Amino acid sequence: MPAPLEIIDAHKTFRTPEGGTLTALDGVSLKLAAAEFVTLLGPSGCGKTTLLRTISGFETLDAGDIVIDGAAVTQLPAHRRPVNTVFQRYALFGHMSVARNVGYALEIAGRDKREIRTRVGEMLELVGLAGLGKRMVSQLSGGQQQRVALARALAGKPKLLLLDEPLSALDKNLRQKMQQELKALQRELGIGFIFVTHDQEEALTMSDRIAVLAHGRIQQIGAPSALYQTPVNLFTADFLGESNLLPVTLDGQVARLADGQGFACDRPAGQATLLLRPEALGLARPEGPALRFSGTIGEVYYTGKDHQVTLQAEALGTLRALLRTGSPLPEPGAGLELFAPATGLHLIDEVAS
Ligand SMILES: Nc1ncnc2c1ncn2[C@@H]1O[C@H](COP(=O)(O)OP(=O)(O)O)[C@@H](O)[C@H]1O
Ligand SMILES: [Mg+2]
Repeated sequence: MPAPLEIIDAHKTFRTPEGGTLTALDGVSLKLAAAEFVTLLGPSGCGKTTLLRTISGFETLDAGDIVIDGAAVTQLPAHRRPVNTVFQRYALFGHMSVARNVGYALEIAGRDKREIRTRVGEMLELVGLAGLGKRMVSQLSGGQQQRVALARALAGKPKLLLLDEPLSALDKNLRQKMQQELKALQRELGIGFIFVTHDQEEALTMSDRIAVLAHGRIQQIGAPSALYQTPVNLFTADFLGESNLLPVTLDGQVARLADGQGFACDRPAGQATLLLRPEALGLARPEGPALRFSGTIGEVYYTGKDHQVTLQAEALGTLRALLRTGSPLPEPGAGLELFAPATGLHLIDEVAS
């Protein structure tokens, strides 16, 4: 079976009003597996929407190719590509009924009325809006409108669905509910989803793989846990989750921190950065080799299941730690010792500037 989507070395440059040029896509390659949910994650302006628009055909590439379901579509106009997009602002027709919104593209394509009615019914059922077809879109809640937009995008049986920050307009509870629904829907349909977000938590919970994008380039692509635990560069480490990034000096055998302590590391001599996730730090000395950080407690925030603590560590500066509640409550200003097992250390071959 061909891949639902293959992007080959995509390049896109825009002219700016000032007469300069701006590189929005700088050599993006990506291949989707069958029925895969891939998230494009990155800060505003990194090229996420541009990449989606070149897949859907609303934007043409300067160089590179887009292959959907085994067929090159690079030269095809948007309406001839077997994809559809769900946008952040759903772009629904407020003066039309739900059913007509969902069936609109089929109507334009001149499909048979009965066929449209059946398909619209199926789609409304799929997104949990069965029976609401006669309502006006303006009479629906935000979450319901989001479902209508989904149903509409799926009505034409796309081989691939693109979703450009579709949940950003929803409040937090509804958003989490819709995250689960979307994920379940994608499994049920078995088609590829490319989902765009700038919300790292959303990306981590929903995706089969995440592609972290910055400056029009994929920084790293992989399973959420791989990106979180073994980021290849500082950008990915910092963008996904909370991180302590500590400079280390390598001598070929030992990696040494600024406070003098070291751990075994057989990488070539040079400079690198140690990534320590806050949850890797704990109060108990682990068995086996460990790093030890002592200092003064700065802030303590109680979140219910844990304490977020900052430690002013000697010679290292501020470290952030996540300590389970249940352990003795740390007091700001008190001395504290924290440990990180050597097994949980991850080095990044890059130095913070
Ligand atoms: N039509 C356009 N003309 C000029 N610049 C554009 C155009 N579309 C996007 N850009 C620029 O390209 C970059 C990437 O934009 P975009 O893909 O919308 O980012 P994102 O969706 O990640 O926020 C931004 O710097 C944006 O200003
Ligand atoms: Mg965007």
